[in-house]
Amino acid sequence: MAPDVARIWRRLEVFAADHRARKPDAYTLKPELLKDRTLSLDGLTLDWSLQRLDDDVLEALVELSNVVNLQDRLRQQFEGEVVNPTEQRAALHSAMRDTPTSHRALRVRLRTDREELTHFAINVLNGHTTSYCGAAFTDVLHIGIGGSHLGQKLLSDALASTRLNLHFLSNSQSERVRSTLDRLDPAKTLAIVASKSFTTPETQQNFQSVKNWFAERTGRSDALASNLVLISSNASLIEKLPGKHFTVPEEVGGRFSVWSAMGLPVLLATGPEQFAQLLHGANLMDHHTITTPSSANAAVMLALLALWNTNFLAASSHAVLSYVAALRWLPGYLQQLEMESLGKSVTVDGETVPHHTTGVIWGGEETDGQHAWHQWLHQGTHLYSADFIATTSRNNKDDSWTLANSLAQHHVTFYGHEDNKAPEKHIQGGHGSTLILLDDTNAKTIGMLLALYEHKVACLGYLWNIDPFDQWGVERGKVMAEEINKALSGTGHTLSNPLLDERVRKILPRQK
Ligand code: F6P
Repeated sequence: MAPDVARIWRRLEVFAADHRARKPDAYTLKPELLKDRTLSLDGLTLDWSLQRLDDDVLEALVELSNVVNLQDRLRQQFEGEVVNPTEQRAALHSAMRDTPTSHRALRVRLRTDREELTHFAINVLNGHTTSYCGAAFTDVLHIGIGGSHLGQKLLSDALASTRLNLHFLSNSQSERVRSTLDRLDPAKTLAIVASKSFTTPETQQNFQSVKNWFAERTGRSDALASNLVLISSNASLIEKLPGKHFTVPEEVGGRFSVWSAMGLPVLLATGPEQFAQLLHGANLMDHHTITTPSSANAAVMLALLALWNTNFLAASSHAVLSYVAALRWLPGYLQQLEMESLGKSVTVDGETVPHHTTGVIWGGEETDGQHAWHQWLHQGTHLYSADFIATTSRNNKDDSWTLANSLAQHHVTFYGHEDNKAPEKHIQGGHGSTLILLDDTNAKTIGMLLALYEHKVACLGYLWNIDPFDQWGVERGKVMAEEINKALSGTGHTLSNPLLDERVRKILPRQK
């Protein structure tokens, strides 16, 4: 750790010892605090007044962001410098929403690509582009996994407004594949295969199943070509295959790619106007992130709060509690975005990270969670932090009930509840959380929210000196699965690890 970073780290450790010992009611939580600990940006408000910290801590955290040159690092990222050193790549997701970068040529190319994508989507939606037999498409079957799935599922569910029905295949368990395909008619189904690498086994297996299904159901081996879209960075591989092709720049990471051609299912589910609003919202957040000093910068603030909770208060997990029904898939999306980006233990210099990086990110849809895991939140023994995501838009009094619950839970997780007579009713409190309020749940505010989390992740990467844009840890398991799969296929393949080999031998006869 650089000496000036270590100096602030030590100061924060001293503060943390004090804060860990403080009871929630020891905090001066005057109403005026809301003014200082709230940021309002174009329909999205961030309120961190119920975090376990004070002005000294905030000052030291902001100083830390300055010492690691966070603003410069973000600027370098936006300008297309290499910020993913292990893969020697830039991270150009912001360019996908036309946020200025030094890559003018790239922006011009992206605009042309976007026009082509939009044109294609409009023609599918208005029925000009038809299936192999001339029928208009009624259903879209999206095949992809991880970063080529989670954003598409989240956004097409949150903002669906067109006549198309979307279906998703991610893992390749045959039962799931069969039950999805059974609901579809190939004459009216547009299949999209989305894979940055175009080598991910589950996606390739599902692609093959869909090819077989098309051939069986239509009796024609050429039928799929008119009903197929392939999206990838691997242009040389997909150009050999039939179907409509869209490419994604290599510098756009999978979990950051929903703004690119990978967003086609979102475009089809929402229509071009909403998709443009989504990009506009993300663009607004990009602009805010690169032009605003740390103390008033929403993404930097979220990152600093995460660092404080993780490294100094020892929170072991972070709950994403969505009181916005449209954002029910947000926790899963953020789980990949944050854990795949920040679940790292070596620095960009190859040293062991001397502290924790991200803890577990989890959560779900509320108020359902209140009837499931909130008991753990209130009386469990683990320290956690949380984001409460709610909306002030209201269609009827039930929506006020949902909002009231978000405010109540946010309050109780921090303050707890004193009950000296009945210990079983006592609630410790003391869990820091941030309230994120959306004025309205629309494409613009959702675009802002997702870009906010993307930049939070990048900031944490720079603060922890780790590479937030690679994911080497997932590779080893894939290699082993290939080997084990060979042994499971009954070809007599022997595994080099004797215990594993024995386990597979025992399982082999049980495979029906
Ligand atoms: O296994 C993790 C991962 O590599 C993710 O980073 C990626 O989003 C996902 O697999 C799917 O990869 P692809 O888009 O190349 O199929």
